[in-house]
Amino acid sequence: MEIFDLIVIGGGPGGYLAAERAGHAGLKTMVIEKRAFGGVCLNEGCVPSKTFLNSAKVFDYANHASAYGVNGIEGKATVDQKFVVERKNGVVKMLVSGVKGQLKRNKVVMKEVEGFIEGKADEGYIIKAGEEKFIAKRLIIATGSMPVVPPIPGLRENLEAGLVMTNREVLDLTEIPKQLVVIGGGVIGLEMASYFSSVGSKVTVVEMLNKIAGPTENEISAILQKTLEKKGVEFKLGAKVTAVEKDGVVYEKDGKVEKVAADKVLCSIGRRAVTQGIGLENIGVNLERGAIVTDDMMKTNVANVYAVGDVNGKVMLAHTAYREAEVAVNNILNKKDRMRYNVIPSVIYTNPEVGSVGETEESAKAKGLDVKTVSIPLTFSGRYIAENTDLNGICKLVINKKTNTLIGAHIIGSYSGEYIVAVSAMIDLEVDIENIKKLVFPHPTVCEIVREAIFSI
Ligand code: FAD
Ligand code: NAI
Repeated sequence: MEIFDLIVIGGGPGGYLAAERAGHAGLKTMVIEKRAFGGVCLNEGCVPSKTFLNSAKVFDYANHASAYGVNGIEGKATVDQKFVVERKNGVVKMLVSGVKGQLKRNKVVMKEVEGFIEGKADEGYIIKAGEEKFIAKRLIIATGSMPVVPPIPGLRENLEAGLVMTNREVLDLTEIPKQLVVIGGGVIGLEMASYFSSVGSKVTVVEMLNKIAGPTENEISAILQKTLEKKGVEFKLGAKVTAVEKDGVVYEKDGKVEKVAADKVLCSIGRRAVTQGIGLENIGVNLERGAIVTDDMMKTNVANVYAVGDVNGKVMLAHTAYREAEVAVNNILNKKDRMRYNVIPSVIYTNPEVGSVGETEESAKAKGLDVKTVSIPLTFSGRYIAENTDLNGICKLVINKKTNTLIGAHIIGSYSGEYIVAVSAMIDLEVDIENIKKLVFPHPTVCEIVREAIFSI
């Protein structure tokens, strides 16, 4: 059996980046992908959803063009959903071939088959790639995650029948549903509600909790909800889905059973790690609540076996997977590196978008930190007013009083997903507030809001 320094199972962001970095460093590396290189992120997640959302943004602009003095198109624009899907496929194709090109350039052996851990050998681990067998001196597991489909009566049957969709089917939908019901008001649900409500669906979101967008800062999630409601999205909060029927979704709210009609239903109530059927039990990898247990060096309990990305269930985001991949490879290369999870930015790409990083006031107080907060409207930014008609964005900062440093930022409004990383850097590098005041921001930009907020403390 041919021996590899490293075999990676799973070719998503965690897996392909680990393989790329390892190959670049000169390790003899193989990556095994059973479905499509690029994983969920490139093929049926991050990138396809953002391609959709960009079409909605263009459509929204066209429909409000007269507010900017551009006449003649308002009310005339239509969305060609087939074209949107074709364009998405083109974007995916280009990015996937880019990933393969990078792997090739870094001399990584690519196998497009199912990977399986058969057991231990003297020199390492026996890995099956389809019908072939190899030895891996080290192993990185990056098998990602899949949608949770709970045992709600009618849900699975209607998934098979085509009424219910997960992220995979919704991003291939070539017709705009008349009545879309979204189960779960988390990130996927809200991004898709934003898209489909823009392009003409009547969207209802049924969410179990009393707020949308899960851990998002409360005021920001309330603004997001109001904005989506203005676009026509209806929210049923504190509502538990009890059944999915051929023509709609049944839920219980305030002790009453109600039903909302649907010609399509999106099930987006979370994701779970892919840990079954890959042979983890053959080498004794520990799991906790269905995900692989890792330390901050991405090591599992088994020597020379690492797990990165959604499969470890820590923070299911592509950029977390990227960084974890680098941490794992650095440790394999004996360059000590540790993963930190406290400054991972997150973005919700709805229109308007939400950029968040670090602590909220609530989470900081729960940790016993002495904090102060500042919240200012985005209308303090000239560019924001110049480019928008709906002016309800805000920027909220959380400051640790003891260290006089930023520990959290929560922004809703255009470009926030692009410039949140600047705030992440300020938090990560523990820059003193007085030093942030000395930074020069380009003008006029929406990111100047951070400077404005800092000076409003
Ligand atoms: P995955 O991308 O899931 O890749 C795992 C790969 O392993 C898959 O390709 C799978 O086929 C393969 N695999 C599994 N088992 C085997 C096996 N036995 N043999 C061989 N191959 C195997 N994150 C963001 O940061 N930003 C976003 O905007 C964003 N948007 C999203 C939108 C949607 C609709 C969804 C569903 C997710 C989104 N995410 C986003 C999350 C992001 O997609 C994941 O965090 C990311 O893909 C995780 O990367 P990964 O490498 O761990 O796993
Ligand atoms: P999620 O965890 O974000 O949201 C799921 C929502 O469903 C929660 O609000 C939860 O309360 C609700 N829920 C759970 N069970 C329910 C039930 N029975 N009935 C009604 N509501 C119920 O999960 P989601 O949206 O599926 O996304 C999965 C993951 O994908 C995210 O956690 C995130 O890590 C990633 N993602 C990231 C994106 C981004 O970064 N922009 C975009 C999309 C997904």
